[in-house]
Amino acid sequence: MSIHNCRLITLPKISNPRGNLTAIEGGRHVPFEIKRVYYLYDVPGGEERGGHGHRELQQLIIAMSGSFDVVVDDGFEARRYHLNRSYYGLYICPMMWRSIDNFSSGSVCMVLASEVYDEADYYRNYQDFLAAARNGQKR
Ligand code: TYD
Repeated sequence: MSIHNCRLITLPKISNPRGNLTAIEGGRHVPFEIKRVYYLYDVPGGEERGGHGHRELQQLIIAMSGSFDVVVDDGFEARRYHLNRSYYGLYICPMMWRSIDNFSSGSVCMVLASEVYDEADYYRNYQDFLAAARNGQKR
């Protein structure tokens, strides 16, 4: 998979003087059915999360509050995205190494995922990921 398959998705934003609303429908606003939602919060300043790859998993990462950076790496090329709006989602396709850093104080990172949690789907070692990504293989 190429890093070019990862992209920022602009989510619908229903603006109202009473406040804004964003809705996300699986298979419509994100290119997968949503099987899991998790979120990172109370991340101490200077910490990094992520630091792994996934064989099959697709994700949409949203800064629900505050801001942080997501670095996506396909084994050949890396890109850094700064997320700071809750109506943007970063779509991450399979076989991307990702890390998340530069968390602002009080930030909340929500992740919509295409699969339930499965440790067997992870690459925890960067060299293993790199070898697989460069061979164009998943397993
Ligand atoms: P991990 O994916 O390594 O976190 P991050 O990449 O955000 O730093 O997961 C951290 C721990 O949480 C690990 O023990 C597995 C567990 N976990 C779940 O139980 N369910 C989940 O959906 C996720 C994402 C993690």
